[in-house]
Amino acid sequence: MGHAVSYDDPGTPQEQSRRTFMANAVLSLGGIIGVAMAIPLVTSLIPDVSTLGGTPSPLSPEEFKKLQAATATPTKIVFQVKSQDGYMAPGQSEQYVWAVKTDMAKLEAARPDLFGATGKVPYPAVTLGFTVFSPICPHLGCRFNWATDEKKFVCPCHGSKYSALGDHLAGPAPRGLDPLPLKEQNGTAAVTWIVYKDNEPDRIVLSYS
Ligand code: FES
Repeated sequence: MGHAVSYDDPGTPQEQSRRTFMANAVLSLGGIIGVAMAIPLVTSLIPDVSTLGGTPSPLSPEEFKKLQAATATPTKIVFQVKSQDGYMAPGQSEQYVWAVKTDMAKLEAARPDLFGATGKVPYPAVTLGFTVFSPICPHLGCRFNWATDEKKFVCPCHGSKYSALGDHLAGPAPRGLDPLPLKEQNGTAAVTWIVYKDNEPDRIVLSYS
């Protein structure tokens, strides 16, 4: 039938190549638009620490006393982090930080990485005379410990070592320890719990309380 023949006619080679070109052009344009729309969406999902709207978790009176008694030898401070996820009921999890008594001059001398263009933390790294470090190893996320005999933080997973002020001394970790925001609040101190991306030289926020 004439109609069916003309419908199935693939056309001349020139027509075919024009059609292929148009189809590819539409696909490429679709891809470009998709990427352009995805970039702002992805960036909007990454929390911005400089505008931290998180809820600092207060220390109990006992843990606040421990913080106040902390010395240049790191002290473990335990606290409860309230978490709320869009899909889950509000929950509470126990966390801890390593508190070290110090001042800005000492921290700046030991940790120039915290004050340079990259790795700079957009909140005070020393509050009330203390710095508190996240207990999560910046290599691949294990929990390190203070080794009293070595006077260093030592990670049991791949052997990264850090000074008491969090300077990276040995092992595969790409950066020093991450200080967390500490603030004075209602007669005690409160910590904002931030999880930074591991195995990156820069501090990239994954989540915060
Ligand atoms: S996770 Fe700590 S050294 Fe690898």
